[in-house]
Formats: sequence, C-alpha cells, structure tokens
Amino acid sequence: MVSEMKAKVVYTQLLKEDLVVIRILPDEGMPDYITGQFLTIGVTVPTENYKLVRRAYSIASHPENKDYFEFVIRWVRNPLPGRVTTMLFHASEGDEVKLGYPTGNALLINEKLPNGEKDMRRIVCVGGGTGLAPFIAYANHLHDVGDKREVVVLHGASYVDELSYKKMLTDLENESKRRKGEWNFKYRAAISRPKEFFNRSWSGHVGRVESFFKEAKNGVSPLDELVGEKCTPENTYIYICGYQGTIDGVIDNTAARGFVTKDNAHDDGSYEIRYESYG
Ligand SMILES: Cc1cc2nc3c(=O)[nH]c(=O)nc-3n(C[C@H](O)[C@H](O)[C@H](O)COP(=O)(O)OP(=O)(O)OC[C@H]3O[C@@H](n4cnc5c(N)ncnc54)[C@H](O)[C@@H]3O)c2cc1C
Ligand SMILES: NC(=O)c1ccc[n+]([C@@H]2O[C@H](COP(=O)([O-])OP(=O)(O)OC[C@H]3O[C@@H](n4cnc5c(N)ncnc54)[C@H](OP(=O)(O)O)[C@@H]3O)[C@@H](O)[C@H]2O)c1
Repeated sequence: MVSEMKAKVVYTQLLKEDLVVIRILPDEGMPDYITGQFLTIGVTVPTENYKLVRRAYSIASHPENKDYFEFVIRWVRNPLPGRVTTMLFHASEGDEVKLGYPTGNALLINEKLPNGEKDMRRIVCVGGGTGLAPFIAYANHLHDVGDKREVVVLHGASYVDELSYKKMLTDLENESKRRKGEWNFKYRAAISRPKEFFNRSWSGHVGRVESFFKEAKNGVSPLDELVGEKCTPENTYIYICGYQGTIDGVIDNTAARGFVTKDNAHDDGSYEIRYESYG
C-alpha cells in the first residue's frame, strides 16, 4: 500500500504560461524531511476515470519552513498534455491532492570529509530549468542554519523570464556582501538562447549552464573566475539537477581536475559530484 498524505493547494503563482510555483500543505501538518529530497504529488485525472496518478517533484522549500511544501513545475504540453502537470496547472487554492512522504538521497548535502572532519568545501549547485528547485531549498536551509561554507547557485534557462527565484537568489547574494564571514553566497544564471528577441536584454553568461565549468585556453573556467580560484575536489563539491545532458556536461568539464561521481568514487569511497537526473 502506498503511504501518503491528504493535502491541499494553498498558493499558486504562474511565472509564465507553462511555469508555476505551487505550495501544498498536508492536512496532518508538515512531516520532517531533509534538504534536497523529493516527493510524489498525486492527482485524480478526469479523462482517466478519476484514476489517481502520481509524479515525483523536487521540494523547493527547506525543512525549516514548517508552513508548506513548495514546488516549481513545468507544464508538459508536447507531444500530448502531461497528465499530472495539466491538473496542477488548473489547480486552485483549496484543491485536494495526495502527497507521498519526502524521499531520495541523491542530493543530500555532504557534511563530512573522508577523515570524518566537517566538510567546509565550497558548495556549487547547478540547476537546469526546474532542476533549480532543490537548490532553492539548499540556499534557504544553509542560510537559516548559519552554514559558513561558500555557496554558489548556477541556474540555466532558455529564456530570461524562466529565471524563477532570481529575486530571492539576488537578495541572498546581496546579503552576503553585507555579512562577510557569516554568509557567503553567489548566484549566476546562464541563458541558452541569447539570440532570441525575447532575451535581448540579457547581458549575463550565455550558453547552457554546464559551460560555467568549461576552461578557456588559459585553463580558467567562468566558475573559477567567479570564485577567484581554481575549483578542485579539494575545495569544491558539486551538486547537479537537470537533464542528463547537463549532468554529463558538468562531469566531462570537471573530470580532468579529478572530480568524480559515486559510480567512479575514489579508493576511499569519496566523491565530489552528486546529481539527480530529469530522466
Ligand atoms: C526525482 C524527480 C524530481 C522531479 N522534479 C520535478 C520538478 O521539480 N518540477 C517539474 O516540473 N518536474 C519534475 N519532475 C518530472 C515529473 O516527475 C513529471 O515527469 C513531469 O511533471 C511530467 O508529468 P506529467 O504527468 O504531466 O506528464 P506525463 O503524462 O507523464 O507525460 C510524460 C510525457 O509523455 C507524453 N505523453 C503523455 N501522454 C501521452 C500519450 N498518450 N502518448 C504519447 N505521449 C504521451 C507527454 O507529452 C510528456 O512528454 C521530476 C522527476 C523526478 C524523477
Ligand atoms: N528529475 C528531476 O529532478 C526533474 C526536476 C525538474 C524538472 N524535471 C522535468 O524535466 C523536464 C524539462 O525541464 P525544464 O522544462 O525545467 O527544462 P527547460 O527549461 O526546457 O531547459 C532548461 C535548460 O536546459 C537546457 N537543455 C535542454 N535540453 C538539454 C539537454 N538535452 N542537455 C543539456 N541541456 C539541455 C535548455 O537549453 P536550450 O535552450 O538549448 O534547450 C535550458 O538551458 C520537465 O518535463 C520537468 O518535468 C525533472
């Protein structure tokens, strides 16, 4: 039997016609969970005889927020309307859904070095599209618990109006300029279709988000420039959520520096890249 909670939609914010932020509160209150987990949202689909259909969604809110779960969801429309996202795009406050309990350990934040000491390496988060969701949870969690590690959030999107959470992340970076030594946060976005008219105002990084890791001829990557030193497994831990192409791109661009995933872990079992794929 699937163990799940009755829950209600408590807030929706349409960011654009196919991108929405939804908050959902379980009737029984918020369960404990760990930053970086996901859960299933279940909806009844009228065109399928009100069958309950469930899909996985990354939790964009952080465990310290006991008011709701937040999600950022893309409406899948092609080749046919997605079953669950179509229902969620038509949902209003008060509508009932089913929530699975938070699960998944692919993107849990690494806390210890192989020698057992606290891991103080820089945290670099790479979110492709809605794959930003778990890193919104990271940013707010690490901020709220007063974590002193440097945190870098990189977000890739096709269009400037898909930079969901731009204001929140910019505010977090501005705060870090005022609270040096206490909170160390950087946010950069990459726009992958810079030539399109809609993106004409964009003056930031262009290309897919994995290009932040690509070394120029002088051996320096845009990420190295941003943080002011060469990122290596000794000083940096990388987390990725997005398309497999994004994940592979980051892995390829960092392999020569010695970064490995769990599948290719070092002899002592350690690794410095964690990821969750859209696949
Ligand atoms: C761990 C995890 C976390 C995730 N987190 C997020 C998140 O934070 N945000 C987010 O937006 N998504 C997330 N996803 C993706 C999400 O789980 C769903 O896969 C996605 O929302 C689509 O669900 P759907 O029911 O609307 O589409 P589905 O109905 O499952 O459709 C899937 C595809 O099949 C096509 N299709 C539908 N019906 C037919 C048919 N009859 N014949 C042929 N093709 C058809 C659709 O067009 C679509 O391309 C996550 C996935 C995982 C595994
Ligand atoms: N498993 C999960 O954890 C998870 C989390 C969130 C979302 N999803 C699902 O993933 C799907 C797409 O997400 P989205 O709409 O957020 O993405 P999106 O906005 O379409 O794309 C985000 C970025 O990824 C790039 N991209 C597209 N295809 C790529 C590829 N094959 N390799 C590398 N980069 C690629 C895009 O570049 P271009 O401009 O060049 O296309 C864009 O810069 C949705 O169906 C969503 O439900 C899964």
